[in-house]
Amino acid sequence: MFQPSYPIRTARLTLRPVTLDDLDDVYAYQRRPDVVRWMLGAEPRTREQSRASVRAMAGEDALRAEGDCLTLAVVRDATVIGTVELVWRSDSDRTAELGFVFHPEHGGRGLATEAATALLGWGFDEAGLHRVYGRCHARNEASARLMTRLGMRREAHHVRSYLFDGEWADQFVFAILADEWRSRAVPG
Ligand SMILES: CC(C)(COP(=O)(O)OP(=O)(O)OC[C@H]1O[C@@H](n2cnc3c(N)ncnc32)[C@H](O)[C@@H]1OP(=O)(O)O)[C@@H](O)C(=O)NCCC(=O)NCCS
Repeated sequence: MFQPSYPIRTARLTLRPVTLDDLDDVYAYQRRPDVVRWMLGAEPRTREQSRASVRAMAGEDALRAEGDCLTLAVVRDATVIGTVELVWRSDSDRTAELGFVFHPEHGGRGLATEAATALLGWGFDEAGLHRVYGRCHARNEASARLMTRLGMRREAHHVRSYLFDGEWADQFVFAILADEWRSRAVPG
């Protein structure tokens, strides 16, 4: 089992497990169409749907077995401004998938980069991951830029590979290996 020692602190943020008290903050961004715009199958959530989401995320505080998701609330000034997550995709290949969702009001200041950097650092240094990848709709430019800022390589452009809103959509796959993480040029 892999579990961070909480909280994880960065220069501007605190990362810790989601709690049921986070509902108002999480609903504040999950309800927004611009937040779910490029997320497969996601619709703006009702408060009740956000409650179910928060309840599910609250249990995701460690990677206990392959398939588990570790979700961390990203807190700034006592407000949850987003979440970062790692899904343990393969035990034998020591591979996880990175995800992130932030409130747009807190965008454009490098906070998502800072939080994801901390989570990747934990994944490689403490959980012993070999590879972390991330996927996004090819038109999700903010997501692609974030993964590039993290030092991830764009290693695949799958053309019209999945159905999104009833149409074939392109998908980017970004990835980074543990040794690339340790020798990356980007700050963090
Ligand atoms: C993906 C997402 C987290 C990116 O958010 P973001 O605000 O662009 O990312 P950051 O918080 O790291 O901020 C980076 C921006 O701040 C700028 N910035 C300012 N200060 C900075 C700093 N100290 N460090 C890094 N960047 C900084 C960067 O230049 C960058 O701007 P740019 O993209 O215009 O070049 C956000 O768009 C989001 O939550 N989207 C909806 C959910 C989603 O689609 N998730 C991904 C599904 S695949």
